[in-house]
Amino acid sequence: MAERVEIMLTEEEVDNRIREIGEQISRDYQGKTVHLICVLKGGSFFMTELAKRITVPVSLDFMSVSSYGGSTKSSGVVRIVKDLDEPLEGKDVLVVEDIVDSGRTLSYLLDMLRDRGPASVKLCTLLDKPERRVVEVNVDYTGFQIPDEFVVGYGLDYDQRYRNLPYIGVVRFD
Ligand code: IMP
Ligand code: MG
Repeated sequence: MAERVEIMLTEEEVDNRIREIGEQISRDYQGKTVHLICVLKGGSFFMTELAKRITVPVSLDFMSVSSYGGSTKSSGVVRIVKDLDEPLEGKDVLVVEDIVDSGRTLSYLLDMLRDRGPASVKLCTLLDKPERRVVEVNVDYTGFQIPDEFVVGYGLDYDQRYRNLPYIGVVRFD
């Protein structure tokens, strides 16, 4: 079966939108340091591009989580595979994610981070599939709302492949 990737959002569209979000974040965090938390591995491509577009001081940290249960459906119970290096007390935290789908992972993660005493916690996602939401999550910054399709690129994988595509695409099987 042949596999191909159909472009949904071009590299230029993604880059332009990241620039806009970076400007908005820079305005909203005026006079503060924004502490970006990247959720590995998917959020890493978006986070580095976004960080370059933010003009207020930025600090970064990384965490890796995996959800218990099947690999295609997240259960909502999250296991920390790699925890943050730094404490969050008093920090203005901005979690940077690749995509919000059911919302289960994020809802669990945000609650956990809020318990660590940050000054604020906000969420920034490159993509959002609102139709798929099972658990309500407040998204503060969204790159694009997309329809219910399985997408790859810009950090998102299909079986660990395609993360390095500079655009967002849909895998088609002909
Ligand atoms: P959820 O919001 O807890 O359902 O899970 C979100 C996670 O599922 C994301 O961080 C991705 O790793 C993965 N995911 C959801 N939708 C897609 C997709 O369309 N392509 C690739 N990964 C996806
Ligand atoms: Mg993810």
